[in-house]
Parts: sequence; structure tokens; C-alpha cells
Amino acid sequence: MAFPQTRMRRLRASAALRGLVRETDLSADRLVAPLFVSESGPARAPIEAMPGVERLSISLAAEAAAQLTELGVAGVLLFGIPSEKDARGSGAYDEEGAVQLATRAIKRAAPDLLVITDVCLCEYTDHGHCGVLHEGPHGPTVDNDATLELLAATAISHARAGADIVAPSDMMDGRVGTIRARLDEEDLTQTPILAYSAKFASAFYGPFREAAGSTPAFGDRRSYQMDPANRRQALREALLDEQEGADMLMVKPALAYGDLIREIKDTSRLPLAAYNVSGEYAMVKAAAAAGYLEERASVLEILTSLRRSGADIIITYHAKEAAKWLSETR
Ligand code: PBG
Repeated sequence: MAFPQTRMRRLRASAALRGLVRETDLSADRLVAPLFVSESGPARAPIEAMPGVERLSISLAAEAAAQLTELGVAGVLLFGIPSEKDARGSGAYDEEGAVQLATRAIKRAAPDLLVITDVCLCEYTDHGHCGVLHEGPHGPTVDNDATLELLAATAISHARAGADIVAPSDMMDGRVGTIRARLDEEDLTQTPILAYSAKFASAFYGPFREAAGSTPAFGDRRSYQMDPANRRQALREALLDEQEGADMLMVKPALAYGDLIREIKDTSRLPLAAYNVSGEYAMVKAAAAAGYLEERASVLEILTSLRRSGADIIITYHAKEAAKWLSETR
């Protein structure tokens, strides 16, 4: 039945009616806040392209975590800024490294907050790539298989420090299977893996690389991160990670990839995360600062759209503000 019998506006007449028929919920317990933790240097260091986000000392990271728990945010995703970098990224799997120390401090300060750790070498290598290098026929390139054991060592050290979930973001082939096998050998069978499954070589990571000092010294990440043009390949990546033992999958970035969030959600039965990345945050902040966008409404619309696309979990630099806004609207 069409107009005049069917009138779609009938169900939009009041806030209560709109609430009654709303199809998608957004709540703080779906949100994860990325945190940058520094091993040394100033207690807080601002990140120019990301107003409101700072690199924090271990003790300030623990304070920030306690505030996030108060607001009902589900968890944090930790990125470490080491005081020294080397060719093999040894800061990544140092038992006393930034992420390991921060994990212990946060679990003490906020035991119920989920600590998710980013497992990658790029913040720790002096060349800025996500693995160790070897000489290939066309110059240096990331050695896939030699990187796997270092990633596994990193994941083990995070889990031993108390991480609730480890999240490999390097995009090496076989990392999920290797990390699962090594965790199990160490009796860390209960540590879940959140795999950055469909992670694209994206221009939207720009501000993160400033924050983490992880811009590659030469070349780019296109030999390991995915080509943004590829949809079928993203599904293969997701299914492979599932076969290798991933407990949760991720699509990253989020905003330009809503089609893949939906498709992976419909293809796999695993919980799915969407990572609303640094450049996506910077765009909203810059437009809001210029007076071009209303920040609160824009952010809640973006986060709701990611839930509607199929994300169970949203990783966002807006987590703290969004949690505050959500508690005010109740
Ligand atoms: C590490 C990693 C990156 C991000 C998350 N993990 C950077 C990259 O791949 O260059 C980006 C996150 C963001 O932009 O918010 N491999």
C-alpha cells in the first residue's frame, strides 16, 4: 500500500515514537578509546592534528583509564611510544616496555576496563615499518615470516602483563595463527585475538603517524596493508583470520568502508570492530573548530552509522566525549 494509506511520517511524529522504532542503539559499552602511552618524556604531549588527544605517561594513562571506566567506556586500545627504536623493534616485546607497564598500571587502576593492546612493530622500529626488513630483489622489504615470531613475542608479553585482548595490526600473512599457537604454548589460552583483518593502506592514518612517530622512513605500507579498491580480498582476509583462530575481526578505517563492515558482518559470525581512525577524528575536529559542523551531532551520527553498518565494537578517539554525551541524553 502506498500513499495516501502508507504515511512513513506517522512514526516520526514525536521523540517517543522515534525512540520506540529506532533500529540501532549506541552506548558507551560498545566504545573503545585508543591511548598513546610514552615510556619517557613529558607527562602529556599534545598531538597537533588531534585536538584533545595526548601522549600520556604511564601514570596519567592509568588516570585516564579510570575516568573512562567511570563514563562506562568498555576498554582502551594501547599504543606504546618507546624511548628508543631499533631495526628489530625490540621495544615492542620488552617486558618493561611502554605497553607492558601501562597495561599493569591500568589493570590496577581500573580492573574492569578492558585493556586491548595493539600488536605491531612500527612504533618500535627505527625504519618505521611493521616488521623486520630483508633485502629483496627491488630493495629492502618487510620479511613476513621473520616478523611472525616477533609479533608473537609481543603478544605474549602483553598477555603476561595482563592484557585482556591482543590486537595484531601489522598485516603480515599468518600472524593470527602464529600468535594463537604461541599464546597457547604459553598457557595463555584465554587471551582473545582481535584481528585487524581488513586493514587498508589509508591516507587517514596521517595524524596517528605523527602521534606515534611511525611514518615509514622509506616507501609506504602498500606491500602489506590492503588496497582500498579491494572488496573480495577484504572478505578473504577476514575469513582467513577466522580460520587461523581470531576471536574478533576488524575493519579499518571505518567511514569510507561501511560496505565492508556490513559484508564481513554478514559473512562471518565473529564479533566485528570498526576503527574510526585518526584522520577521521581530525576531519571532524577541524570542521567543528572552524564552525562548519556541529561536533556532538556529527560524532553521534557517525558512531550510530557504524553500529548500523554492523560494527559490534567501535574504536574511536571520540570515545570519552561520546560517552559523556550519551550519558547526558539519557
Ligand atoms: C600500526 C597502526 C596504525 C594505526 C593503528 N595501528 C598505523 C599504520 O598502520 O600506519 C592507525 C590508527 C589511526 O590512524 O588512528 N600498524
